[in-house]
Amino acid sequence: MKSLLKVGFTQKVIILLETKNLTKSFGGLVAVSDVDFHVGEGEIVGLVGPNGAGKSTLLNLISGVYKPDSGSITFDGNDITKMPPFKVCKLGITKTFQLIHSFPEMTALENVMVGALFGDKDNGNMKSAETKAIELLEFIGFPKDKTHLPVKNLNLMELKYIQLARALSTNPKLILLDEVTTGLNPKESLQAIELIKKMRDNGTSVLMVEHIMRIIMGVSDRIVVLDYGKKIADGTPEEIANNETVIESYLGEKYIF
Ligand SMILES: Nc1ncnc2c1ncn2[C@@H]1O[C@H](COP(=O)(O)OP(=O)(O)OP(=O)(O)O)[C@@H](O)[C@H]1O
Ligand SMILES: [Mg+2]
Repeated sequence: MKSLLKVGFTQKVIILLETKNLTKSFGGLVAVSDVDFHVGEGEIVGLVGPNGAGKSTLLNLISGVYKPDSGSITFDGNDITKMPPFKVCKLGITKTFQLIHSFPEMTALENVMVGALFGDKDNGNMKSAETKAIELLEFIGFPKDKTHLPVKNLNLMELKYIQLARALSTNPKLILLDEVTTGLNPKESLQAIELIKKMRDNGTSVLMVEHIMRIIMGVSDRIVVLDYGKKIADGTPEEIANNETVIESYLGEKYIF
C-alpha cells in the first residue's frame, strides 16, 4: 500500500520510499541511528551532513548493500528491508557510487548496455539493450563521437555521464546519487544538475548526497540533514538554511541564497 503524506495545508505527496527507525552500526560505531525519512514521487531530496555523518551508509542500506540492524525500509508499497541489491534494483531503485565503477576496456555504449541488459524485461536481448543504451546516451547528452571509445579514454564528466546512463538503463523509479558532482568544474556541475532535473521530469525521483551547498540548495525540493548518524533536520532549502542546529553542526554560517 502506498501512503499519502500531507505537506502543509494544500500539497499532498505520494510516498515512494520511507524508512522507519533505521539503524546500522559498524562495531561500536552507530553509522545510521534511528532515521525516519521519506522520498515522495517526483521529488529531488538532498542528503547532506559532515564527513562520516552516515550519508553513504544510508544509501547503501536503501539499495540493499548493507542490512540494517533494526528499523524498516518500504519502497513503492514493498518491504525491502532485507532484500538483496539485485532485487531492490529490479523493484526500481538504482544507485551510483561515490567512486566511479566501470568496465575500462569496454566502450561507452557497451558500459551502458550492461545495465540495459540487466534491466531488460526480455531477459538479455542484445539488440534491444543496444537500442536502449543509444537512447539513453542521447537523453543525457553524451558526445556522439565518443560512443565507441573505451571508457578508459574518457574524461571525468564523460565517465559520470556513463555512470548515470547505466543507472537509468534499469528504468529506476528512484535513483540514489552519491556525490555525482565531485571533481567536476562549476560549468560541468551545472550541466549535471540540469541532467538530474531532466531525470526527475522524466519520472525518476532522486535522492542525492552532495557537499556543495550551492548545488544542493539549488536543485533539491527538500533536504535531509544527518549528523553522527542521526537526522537533525528535514525541510525545504530555505528552512534548512535558517535552521540553527544545521548552521551550528554543518553549515558553519548562514547560507545566503
Ligand atoms: N564498511 C564499514 N565498516 C566500518 N565502518 C564504516 C563502514 N562504512 C562506513 N563506516 C563508518 O560509518 C560512519 C559513516 O560513514 P559514511 O561513509 O556513511 O559517511 P558519509 O556521511 O558518507 O561521509 P562522507 O561525507 O565522508 O562520504 C563513518 O564513521 C565511517 O567510518
Ligand atoms: Mg559518503
